[in-house]
Amino acid sequence: MKVVHTIEELRDQLRGQLRVAFVPTMGNLHQAHLSLMKLARQHGDPVVASIFVNRLQFGPNEDFDKYPRTLANDIEKLERERDVYVLFAPHEREMYPEPQNFQIQPPPDLGGILEGEFRPGFFTGVSTVVLKLFSCVQPSVAVFGKKDYQQLMVVRNMCRQFQLPVTILAHETVRDPDGLALSSRNRFLEAPERAEAPRLYATLQTVRDGLLAGETDASALEAQAVSHLAQHGWQVDYVSLRRQSDLGKVSAQEVAGGEPLVVLAAAKLGATRLIDNLEICKK
Ligand code: PAJ
Repeated sequence: MKVVHTIEELRDQLRGQLRVAFVPTMGNLHQAHLSLMKLARQHGDPVVASIFVNRLQFGPNEDFDKYPRTLANDIEKLERERDVYVLFAPHEREMYPEPQNFQIQPPPDLGGILEGEFRPGFFTGVSTVVLKLFSCVQPSVAVFGKKDYQQLMVVRNMCRQFQLPVTILAHETVRDPDGLALSSRNRFLEAPERAEAPRLYATLQTVRDGLLAGETDASALEAQAVSHLAQHGWQVDYVSLRRQSDLGKVSAQEVAGGEPLVVLAAAKLGATRLIDNLEICKK
């Protein structure tokens, strides 16, 4: 694997390549990242991964400084798997040599809801860096995880609306055996919190089971889920049932009519904020 830190070196490595498959990450790689790279390998050649902790997508009180940076370890993991041909790990001054005054603003009804409501500016930061990374790597395929469901949708819509010649592939959420979605932030959970953490996914499954049993009142299901989590010490930002197609809110008629849905949640255990989601199809 070639490790490059500048855009110039990256372009040298990729000159003439027309089927690049790309996996952008912020590093601290775990099994989910590695399986995104395996999927990339099935859909393009060469596979390029990036590791860049993107300051633009962190709020002033968020964990940018604390975000785990483990490049040497990450490189070892990638070398072992042998899926990635070039790792692009730019320094901040390479990506942002001057203030990033041009930014991509997702529409408020997509970028301002759910995560965007609790993390203002988050999807502007994500969209801007993803566009920049695409412009550096010029992939024909890029892989994103469903764990960050809204991010996947924001990126897909951005590509569609700007007619970027990139096919976005979605990878299923990778979980520990007890259901907890893998995340770089899981390492911040204290032992009792780690034991409690699978309840987030279990609660989403309860919402799904309610729907499959014929409940059509989305607000009632959401409220039950929130109070269940709160009873177990979670500080809940949201549990929200949405349409898969545009993440809009759903009416009882849509629920009854079998509209493809997704229930999304974000909640904190102690100082650690976790997100998860579950797709629900009645038919
Ligand atoms: P990061 O959190 O490092 O995630 C990189 C990719 O891995 C994302 O597409 C994310 O959805 C996926 N991923 C993480 N955990 C996953 C899991 N348990 N199952 C499936 N996929 C998972 O997401 C980002 O970085 C950044 O916002 C980025 C897109 C790189 C822009 O800075």
